[in-house]
Amino acid sequence: MGKVKSGSTTRILILDFGSQTTQLIGRRIRDLGVYTEIIPGDAPLEEKTLAGVQGIVLSGSPESVYTPEGTVPDKGVYACGLPLLGICYGLQRMTFDQGGLVEPLPKREYGGVGVTVSARERQGENPEQEGRIRRFLTGFDSSVSIDNIIEGKMLPEQSLFRGPRTFTAWMSHGDTLTRLAPGFLEYGVSVTGFPAVVIHNTCPWFGLQFHPEVTHCERGTAILAAFVFGVCGCKPGWTMEKYVEEVRVSLVSRVGNNPVLLLISGGVDSTVAGALLLKTLDPEQVHLMYMDTGLMRKDETKTVETTLMRLGARHLHIIHCETEFLSAIRGLTDPETKRKVIGDLFITVEERELRRLGLPDSSFIVQGTLYTDLIESGKGVGKKAHIIKSHHNVGSPLVDAKRKAGRIIEPLDRLYKDEVRRLGRILGVDEEVVRRHPFPGPGLAVRILGEVTREKCEILREADAIYIEELKRRRSPGSQDRCLYDEIWQAFAVLLPIRSVGVAGDVRKYGWVLALRAITSADGMTADVYPFPPRDLLEISTLITNTVKDIGRVTYDISSKPPATIEWE
Ligand code: XMP
Repeated sequence: MGKVKSGSTTRILILDFGSQTTQLIGRRIRDLGVYTEIIPGDAPLEEKTLAGVQGIVLSGSPESVYTPEGTVPDKGVYACGLPLLGICYGLQRMTFDQGGLVEPLPKREYGGVGVTVSARERQGENPEQEGRIRRFLTGFDSSVSIDNIIEGKMLPEQSLFRGPRTFTAWMSHGDTLTRLAPGFLEYGVSVTGFPAVVIHNTCPWFGLQFHPEVTHCERGTAILAAFVFGVCGCKPGWTMEKYVEEVRVSLVSRVGNNPVLLLISGGVDSTVAGALLLKTLDPEQVHLMYMDTGLMRKDETKTVETTLMRLGARHLHIIHCETEFLSAIRGLTDPETKRKVIGDLFITVEERELRRLGLPDSSFIVQGTLYTDLIESGKGVGKKAHIIKSHHNVGSPLVDAKRKAGRIIEPLDRLYKDEVRRLGRILGVDEEVVRRHPFPGPGLAVRILGEVTREKCEILREADAIYIEELKRRRSPGSQDRCLYDEIWQAFAVLLPIRSVGVAGDVRKYGWVLALRAITSADGMTADVYPFPPRDLLEISTLITNTVKDIGRVTYDISSKPPATIEWE
């Protein structure tokens, strides 16, 4: 994935027109065991691009087809004869390009919307397409399991349901089809009266106005499976083990005997990236560098060392640069400035240490960047992904310069967090590390609001360690086998730049205010507040204020994402 070329692997190609959910389409299909590749929506569809492709998905987009900003695919997409699935903008694109009409809605439609799908009585003008339509519609039939769709157990005759099927689809569109293109028929309509499922009569072209890739879309995965297996004829077979093998082949050919250097942050991503390098290359060529910036969690350095040595690291360079980092951000209060300074310093120290190590110019730099890091920094595959926040590992001009020189490798840049965890387990990374919650590159600097000092780092480190320890110790109310930590996607403490009055014994105390955050999420793109059992929350609060003397008050953050982000800065 990413730079990893799949060779002869059969796959589904996704044309990315810039939607934030494009990667989710790829992920859902990969979860079904079929390799996916995402390319820009207007990429030329040359013969080598289409080698092994069994179907093409046209993604959504924030743009409209009737404006110059709307990305136009290579015309070859309609001439290649492969099955097409247009999702939202993808459907509008097909309609527009084939002579139909797309117009703005009076009001944007967003969220769960009822859709009714009916199997139409048709004359079998094209038996092949007739069969594909039947198998595609199986996806909407709640009596058919995904396993049956994958295994193709439903015979086409059996899969044509009788009577309409109604389900809740997930919509996000400002435009709608107002006239279908010639040859297309409507099979599904939304309760609001707009075409929701549209299929061509003879060509293998299918379109959905809604987003089956979003978890809130009922039958969403089944509909994708019906396209991938029923229409495109794919067979499940792509696994994480296969991914490791493909990465190995790609890494070995790209890197050769040159040294590679990976900056380890202590989080899951870089640790798994390190494990991947150690297991796929010769450990002698793998240099792992860890900077103790003073912005890390409690005992981080020790944990990193133990984990990586256990994974077979031969060259682990631990750089103690706490004073350098804390001095660089002294007095800074603006979040983006803090991120930028830290990001640039990471690179400065990295380059300096590289020189000190005497690694040649030909050496490669590896980063544990995930797809979510890219999309949120506006570097998504689609050229129109919107900038939300600069993440240090992709935003620095120095990294960009290295990227231009072709010396950056990001072997995880098409994976989501839970896929990285799966990969980590396969590579033998300790469960304690694999299950670890994400930790941002700039570390505690974005969890200490306003100015960062050494003293504040100590206070937050202590409070956060107590919080996390308690989450690991306490059982989940839903399942006695699981602890709270494993129920939560990410939890951490935030030190606010506010002091508040309290009492300790008979003495008035003026302590810092701490916020606790705990969220559930699938991939960090959106997040819900974890509904904390009140007793646990109260006891943890008491424990923190009793143990960390500088903290006088604890609050719980009850904001979801959006509108808030997960981190506070
Ligand atoms: P936000 O705060 O943007 O966070 O909702 C989404 C996820 O990304 C993590 N995060 C970062 N990770 N460098 C990173 O490597 C960063 O600069 C950064 N900022 C946020 C955050 O912890 C959450 O998991």
